[in-house]
Amino acid sequence: MSRKVIIDTDPGIDDAMAILFAFETEQLDVLGLTTTFGNVSVDLATHNALILAELAGADVPVAKGVSAPLEITPRPHADFVHGRDGFGNINWPAPKGKALDVSAAQFIIDTVKAHPGEVTLIALGPLGNLATALEMAPEIANLVDEVILMGGTAIEYGNVSPVAEANIINDPHAADKVFTANWQVTMIGLDVTHQVLLEIDLLERIKASRPKYGDFLCQAAKYYIKFYKDRLDVDGCFFHDASTIAYAMEPDIFGIELGAIRVACEGLAIGQTIFAPEGMTFSEPHWDCVPITQVCMEVDSKRMLNLFEETLS
Ligand code: RIB
Ligand code: CA
Repeated sequence: MSRKVIIDTDPGIDDAMAILFAFETEQLDVLGLTTTFGNVSVDLATHNALILAELAGADVPVAKGVSAPLEITPRPHADFVHGRDGFGNINWPAPKGKALDVSAAQFIIDTVKAHPGEVTLIALGPLGNLATALEMAPEIANLVDEVILMGGTAIEYGNVSPVAEANIINDPHAADKVFTANWQVTMIGLDVTHQVLLEIDLLERIKASRPKYGDFLCQAAKYYIKFYKDRLDVDGCFFHDASTIAYAMEPDIFGIELGAIRVACEGLAIGQTIFAPEGMTFSEPHWDCVPITQVCMEVDSKRMLNLFEETLS
């Protein structure tokens, strides 16, 4: 029986890798894509989500979500990482389909209530849609199977500031609501995604066996890989978002530590995911009575990349 998932996304080149990965595996049943601002505007994220669904030939609804953070002033879109079009400036043909008339948050609520206890929310961008859904219908926290999110960092350096990762700093208030709600959250942060480097050769092999996907991914990844070459002098790119799909398929690819997460929402450390390991006590009360998050700290990089290649080839 395949696992029901909703993917919340700001596509985004690594989002595209994740979404095509999810569409291709028989282990997941993608019930819908919900979109958010982040790498790009929410309008462009929605446009790109429709492209991905049509590229995969997946009859999957797309629901447009939040266009700005809950409270902070919007930060600039990361077009230096994903390109102006979100896919490495490849100017892929526009999609034919249209998004649903219902909002992302309402789609999440309706779908979770239609399948109580069965739906996993996989979040690949800032967390405004999940926070809004919680605000509108707090009862969904008990109806969701698991929240698997790409974001944050426990001990690895951040990628926007020394302590903050992009998805969290783009909406810290939303993230704090998600980490403190009474549902099971698994955090796949930079602690593990910075251990996995996807090289262009792997995408070239996918292109040889599945031109439909490989052509798009190779074109889009070139821009993304150039960003990492220029910034970090590495030959490849980080596999951030696709790691959530690998976790949903084979969680034992990862090593997990348990603890409470709170998010700094202002000041120099804004966007920091502050991890209090289970069993440790502190005089500061902010981590008291906070639900335990599963924080991924180890990953079998080779196994995850093989799973991605096998699934897409
Ligand atoms: O920090 C990496 C995350 O931010 C990924 O989800 C990437 O797509 C961007 O949204
Ligand atoms: Ca993303």
